[in-house]
Amino acid sequence: MKRWQLNEPSGLDALALTDAVLPTLKAKDVRIQVAATAVNYRDYSSLLDPVARQIPLPFTPNSDCAGIVTDTGSDVSLVKPGDRVASCFFQQWLDGPCSTDIMRSALGGPLPGVLATDIVLTETGCIKIPDYLSLVDAATLPCAALTAWNALVTIGQLKAGDTVLLLGTGGVSMFALQLAVTLGINTIMTSSSDDKLSVAKQFGATHLLNYRTHPDWHRHVLEITNGMGVDLTLETGGAGTLPQSMEATRVSGCIVLIGILTAGEINPVALMRKSIRLQGLYVGSRQQFGDMLSHFAEHRIQPIVDSVVPFEQAPLAYHKLATATHVGKIVIGIE
Ligand SMILES: NC(=O)c1ccc[n+]([C@@H]2O[C@H](COP(=O)([O-])OP(=O)(O)OC[C@H]3O[C@@H](n4cnc5c(N)ncnc54)[C@H](OP(=O)(O)O)[C@@H]3O)[C@@H](O)[C@H]2O)c1
Repeated sequence: MKRWQLNEPSGLDALALTDAVLPTLKAKDVRIQVAATAVNYRDYSSLLDPVARQIPLPFTPNSDCAGIVTDTGSDVSLVKPGDRVASCFFQQWLDGPCSTDIMRSALGGPLPGVLATDIVLTETGCIKIPDYLSLVDAATLPCAALTAWNALVTIGQLKAGDTVLLLGTGGVSMFALQLAVTLGINTIMTSSSDDKLSVAKQFGATHLLNYRTHPDWHRHVLEITNGMGVDLTLETGGAGTLPQSMEATRVSGCIVLIGILTAGEINPVALMRKSIRLQGLYVGSRQQFGDMLSHFAEHRIQPIVDSVVPFEQAPLAYHKLATATHVGKIVIGIE
């Protein structure tokens, strides 16, 4: 088998393709031949600076993959050889709230990642995927899609007719858009690019805002919502966009904070004045993943795959992510 790994913390270009021995299986383990692995912003930042994220070296990146079960341990009942599965972002988060122990079970830091031809997970560390999804499509789901589901459905409890503000057209925001469309939720989508906004329009975005040409985008959100503000903002930007998100969110609304893309100073007064709930979120549980997959299957949601990079050229996928020219997900495909 082969896997990509970072042996020293000297940046993305130190990522090296190495030969490795197939791991042996314990009773509850499942061996998976990986067909595709999707890239998240987190994987890119982990490769840039694993020391800051306390990731032990050598380090194999990526949390998200899909593949075929090739072998199982003696006490596995949930899957069998030949089944098509996706990885669970947190290997130990089955259900309920997140915990410190669960946070230590994330693939691609601190646990080894899935950028490899073969991996071993426990039977509850993976999940069967619906037949209609290709393995490339399914590989996009464990982190970005589940994060969007958790924000809109579990935390947001949004219902048809509500309005959600989505910042940028990256992986999480585009999944949130697709979910919102199937749930009858109105969307206001921002982007730095009119071309990307026209893609969002094709996928059903209700209102479009270019945050470069409209740096006061929060005022436009208020205009669109008749001065009220949105029910929920999915905050992918972080500190740099949060002040405007607080202005754009309605009284007693919710901001789900997931992103770290921008830096800035925050004055929390608007949160208090407007009784806004600010909720952090870290992906989601296996139970939520299963619920989300059922919803995907019911609505035949087709993940938006921007591009597929060959396994042998994996570093290109992170360079591409860094340029932010993509819409949706960048995937690494394994022949
Ligand atoms: N907490 C969690 O569980 C969780 C899970 C997944 C992701 N995340 C985080 O969420 C963020 C987004 O993740 P992703 O996977 O969607 O990333 P991504 O695919 O790399 O997308 C990033 C997009 O963010 C947009 N963006 C950048 N600066 C912006 C700004 N100032 N205002 C509005 N939009 C801006 C850009 O959209 P345009 O090009 O359209 O302008 C860019 O394409 C990252 O920080 C990631 O680490 C957190």
